Amino acid sequence: MKGIILHGGHGTRLRPLTHTGPKQLLPIANKPMSQYCIESIRDAGITDIAIIIGGLGSNKVRERYGNGEKFNVNITYIEQDEPRGIAHAIRLCKEFVNNEKFLVFLGDNIIQKSITDFVKNFNKSDYDATVLLCEVDNPSRFGIADVENKKIVKITEKPKKPTSNLAVTGIYLLTPLIFEVIDNLKPSWRNELEITDALDNLLKQNDNIGYETITDYWKDTGTPEDILNANRQVLEHICGTADAVFESNRHDKVSLDLTYRRPCIIGKNCEIDGSVSIGPNTSIGDDTIISADVVIENSIIMSGCKIDGGLNIKDSIVSANCHLHGNNKDKTKKIFLLGEGTKITL
Ligand code: DAU
Repeated sequence: MKGIILHGGHGTRLRPLTHTGPKQLLPIANKPMSQYCIESIRDAGITDIAIIIGGLGSNKVRERYGNGEKFNVNITYIEQDEPRGIAHAIRLCKEFVNNEKFLVFLGDNIIQKSITDFVKNFNKSDYDATVLLCEVDNPSRFGIADVENKKIVKITEKPKKPTSNLAVTGIYLLTPLIFEVIDNLKPSWRNELEITDALDNLLKQNDNIGYETITDYWKDTGTPEDILNANRQVLEHICGTADAVFESNRHDKVSLDLTYRRPCIIGKNCEIDGSVSIGPNTSIGDDTIISADVVIENSIIMSGCKIDGGLNIKDSIVSANCHLHGNNKDKTKKIFLLGEGTKITL
């Protein structure tokens, strides 16, 4: 079986975080979100993975994952000229798939549970495709499946008046039959070849699509709130019974007097003094320097940042290499959403 990760698109909804790179490389608990996809696919026993890249951040993706050796997988990169839709991206992989069953993982989807059993069940089945469904509160944001008598009867992309709250998540188990369907697909109202339309047409053709339900955590990280939510969930998971994860072996520059609230993670080679308070739900990236009564909660601070001057930060995402200096007087809580290299002095 082969694996495909979608790493294209322009990430416009997440600007300014995505001005300098693709959204799928934004860190959740100090690890790029697409790395969770690679690890999840590998742990399900699939080692041949194609990554669809396109646009601004393509080189960053190649630099990060290389030929996959470091992650014990073989990676092939496939370029998509423009984000013409998920089905369009999948169609580009026909040769790579080489007539096998395959798994597609959207690079901005985070799932907590292992996908191994889903993959095993699909391999044993005769289904043309299997989708993973998850109950959501806001179904009009997703592809939605209508299920009757334990069978999918309809799949619709972002319906205005949803008739079900079962989102089709961004993890699709497919057979090469989908390629013929995509070849006959028309672009949608958003001018994309939609995977949901392809699946619905396949359903009409053979009535042979299976589904599994995700009851654990799943998130499409479309907004900053989603990213902070995913960060919180993953931190909960990786901290286990501990209060915090320290990624460095030597904490000599992270003061033992530091106040930290569960769950949080502190990256490698950070310098943090004893007047600082970190957490809950906070990730501090590598090489970051924090001092002088700074308080950070429910936030993601990426690598190489410098923060001081008594700033009180909450619900924020601060990209790499930002410098934030408070005035040591204003202690009101501040919310930041900052692109790479931003400099702020209050
Ligand atoms: O996350 C689940 C949802 O993903 C599904 O419920 C929807 O049915 C499905 O259409 C998709 O909806 P989004 O509107 O959230 O898709 P988005 O445009 O954000 O693209 C999803 C991922 O695929 C993202 O990582 C970017 C990548 N992509 C997207 C397009 C359109 C590509 O690599 N190439 C593309 O052409």
